[in-house]
Amino acid sequence: MEKRASDNGFLGFSGKVILLALVLLVLGDHVNGTRNAATSAERDLEIERKLKLMNKPAVKSIQSEDGDIIDCVDINKQPAFDHPLLKNHKIQMRPSMDEKVNEEAASSNSTVRQLWRKSGSCPEGTIPIRRVQKSHLLRAPSLENYGMKGKHVPNSMNDLNSRMYADAVLLTQGYRYNGVHANINVWNPYVEADDEYTSAQIWVVNGPYYLQDTIQTGWTVNPTVYGDKRTRFFSYWLSNTTGCYDLFCSGFVQTSSEIALGGAIEPISTGQQQNEITLSIALDTSGSNWWLVFNNKTNIGYWPSSLFIYLFGAATTVFWGGEVYSQRLGTPHTLTAMGSGNFAGYRFGRSCFMSQIRIRDNSLVWKYPEWVSTYQSQYNCYDVLNDKEYSADPFFYFGGPGRNDRCP
Ligand SMILES: *[C@@H]1O[C@H](CO)[C@@H](O)[C@H](O)[C@H]1NC(C)=O
Ligand SMILES: *[C@@H]1O[C@H](CO)[C@@H](O)[C@H](O)[C@H]1NC(C)=O
Ligand SMILES: *[C@@H]1O[C@H](CO)[C@@H](O)[C@H](O)[C@H]1NC(C)=O
Repeated sequence: MEKRASDNGFLGFSGKVILLALVLLVLGDHVNGTRNAATSAERDLEIERKLKLMNKPAVKSIQSEDGDIIDCVDINKQPAFDHPLLKNHKIQMRPSMDEKVNEEAASSNSTVRQLWRKSGSCPEGTIPIRRVQKSHLLRAPSLENYGMKGKHVPNSMNDLNSRMYADAVLLTQGYRYNGVHANINVWNPYVEADDEYTSAQIWVVNGPYYLQDTIQTGWTVNPTVYGDKRTRFFSYWLSNTTGCYDLFCSGFVQTSSEIALGGAIEPISTGQQQNEITLSIALDTSGSNWWLVFNNKTNIGYWPSSLFIYLFGAATTVFWGGEVYSQRLGTPHTLTAMGSGNFAGYRFGRSCFMSQIRIRDNSLVWKYPEWVSTYQSQYNCYDVLNDKEYSADPFFYFGGPGRNDRCP
């Protein structure tokens, strides 16, 4: 700007405007200077305090090419043990039912990997934790609620937040479910604004509609939480007012040294190549822990049932599908997409899908649910198709572009 002004030899009209703006800025700064410096120093201090609280000392740190730093933290010093209920918790390294959480659930041919693993691995006895960096907190609208999301479950009556969520899901309810499973097709949908997110996920739910406990997992593009627009593997839990994504709060007990919650995943699907992650959430036979299993072979860790009020022994509702969060779901509608960004009707290769949809009930057999239904809150913007036509095992397609001719 300065260079152009001096090149021109004199200030044109726009130059004068800019100069005036600069003068005002400097004057303004002078007047507010002390106060601004004080508040920004305070915020800096607050951020430093929060970082110290959230990040645990690392045995080893890995710089990933996506900008993440993965800290390998002593498994006995992980965030879970800060939880008052877990002070004397004896860590369980395997589900009590043995490691065959999904034997009948299905197979996984997943080629999806976490990006950070290209740059190293965590030694045994440690767990990989994605470090919260200052730049992440600087983007966060609130430090207090960092790593949390609003209370919302699809198709829930009387949900005060429902106007800020769009859902396109398959659901089952009515039985007592102690396991859920699906392959989730991986994409990188467009997210228009930094305060919005999109996800493809499984929800496990129990409790009355005003106080539902939930565990969720899948992939998400969520700049508020992760500071970028990469597709990331996530978990989430909420019981009343307590819970968070990944390991942002204490509660989830991680046992795996291989998978970092919140870590970026690749490769993304293209027209030629479909890539999936396989995820299961399953209660162990003792009923004490909900295990999270990645790609049908890695037990990532568990949520002790004692964290929950209702999600104890079983879930009563399960959802599979997409969620978009935005404050612009009216007109004009956000351009934030769900799934692949295409509507469900484009099917395989172009639409996002879930396959090998399974639940497990008291019979302890993994099976396609006896009863399913679909729900779409804004079918002109994001829709669903539970496709039983082309294979014995239904494919559930979902997604959409957000704003389009039908969804102005
Ligand atoms: C899925 O997991 C089960 C249990 O570990 C295993 O028997 C099965 O072979 C797995 N499938 C694939 C394709 O990895
Ligand atoms: C996994 O790959 C094998 C061999 O290519 C194939 O037969 C099988 O159907 C695949 N399973 C899934 C779930 O895609
Ligand atoms: C839910 O949280 C609120 C606020 O923290 C608390 O007052 C209430 O007792 C909690 N409800 C249950 C059932 O724990």
